[in-house]
Amino acid sequence: MCYIVGMNLAVIGAGYVGLVTAAVFADLGNQLWVVETDKEKIKKLKQGKVPFYEPGLEELLLKNFEQKRLKFTQSYSRAIPSSEVIFVCVGTPNKKGKVDLSFVYGATKSIAGNLKKPAIVVIKSTVPPGINLKIEKWMKRFTKLEFELVSVPEFLREGKALPDTFSPYRVVIGTGNKVAAEKLLRLHQGIEGERLICSSASAQLIKYASNAFLPTKISFANSIAVLADKFGANVDEVMKGLGMDARIGPDFLGAGLGYGGSCFPKDVAALISLSRKVGHNFRILKAVEKTNQAQINYFLKKISRLCGGEIKNKTLAVLGLAFKPGTSDMREACSLYLIKALQKLGAKVRASDPVAIEEAKKELKGIGFFADPYQALKGADALLLVTEWEEYRNLDFKKVREAMRTPIVVDGRNIYNKEKLEELGFAYEGIGK
Ligand code: UDX
Repeated sequence: MCYIVGMNLAVIGAGYVGLVTAAVFADLGNQLWVVETDKEKIKKLKQGKVPFYEPGLEELLLKNFEQKRLKFTQSYSRAIPSSEVIFVCVGTPNKKGKVDLSFVYGATKSIAGNLKKPAIVVIKSTVPPGINLKIEKWMKRFTKLEFELVSVPEFLREGKALPDTFSPYRVVIGTGNKVAAEKLLRLHQGIEGERLICSSASAQLIKYASNAFLPTKISFANSIAVLADKFGANVDEVMKGLGMDARIGPDFLGAGLGYGGSCFPKDVAALISLSRKVGHNFRILKAVEKTNQAQINYFLKKISRLCGGEIKNKTLAVLGLAFKPGTSDMREACSLYLIKALQKLGAKVRASDPVAIEEAKKELKGIGFFADPYQALKGADALLLVTEWEEYRNLDFKKVREAMRTPIVVDGRNIYNKEKLEELGFAYEGIGK
């Protein structure tokens, strides 16, 4: 796709959001600098290598790099002076339950210090609502030039980052400045989705509200799944029926091991702490968090029961390590909590994942890693399905049966057919089925 807009842009931060934003806006016909302080990252990017797995991203970056619309640099002074719109895409990690804004302050200081003409500075990082006033004051310490600070939150999902950015549900532009809003609307031509222009504080709260509401749906589904187990119902059927109500909607009602990743756990925790700071007890979100943590224990109990009440010395094959399919990201992955708990209980773990093994090795010690799931299943007392990769949906269960010592399947994502597996001689349990 090539939609000529032709603005001079800069993106600060070559992480997930930064690289996707850069690839998409360059591909739409803009000239774009990516500023990244990590020298090694820049070197790799110039060779066309992306430091994480995201379908299509490497190709799109390389294409736009070769067509000279995209440039990488460590230096703000090369990128900022010519840029009309500057996207701040740096991380806002959780530090002891608080949002760490040091990267945002660092980036905005360097932007301000290098401005040579008025510009629009767009905060894409997830930041506390209402922070723009503070950042603006801060930036004014380093420049006399005019700039407009705007919030355009990012809603992309890992694994679907490009389609989500080219065709998002909505583009939220948080600014009270009409000229800036119009310029950003023009820049977003060629990107689909509804437009919402609102205050920057609202835009920032929309982002937190979204990343808190979706986990709320998931934790709700997981609580219903426990009830489905107790009452002999099937949570998949229940969620299908629930989601048929257009007021509720069918998405993000998938019961299982719970949510992980770089956003939901961080943003739920951040919204709880931001609420506390302003004197509000966000009770629902605390329960969402607790429910999510409880799912791992619920799964552990199932494993133990199916294995005859004892996990110690059992060989358990974990299929799927990444926090969800389509990514190598291991941040807050359920597999980490589960495997560490299994190891504590004395189990031997053999794990498989199509792309996340290298990442997982940094976090998990003392387990066997196998690219081939059938190898991981060799001599296993139970198959534990943790991430619903396509290849695990399509396993040859006759081959699985031959590889395993004991035919037990505990399905943490409810992807298998209970009847079919039982016909093949497996003991099977999902979550809420
Ligand atoms: C999420 C939001 O979807 C995205 O809008 C935001 O910008 C960043 O955070 P992401 O973390 O990439 O995106 O993954 P997502 O696909 O939303 O899944 C998050 C977690 O929820 C995964 O661990 C997934 O397994 C879990 N999940 C999702 C469920 O347990 N059930 C569901 O029905 C859906």
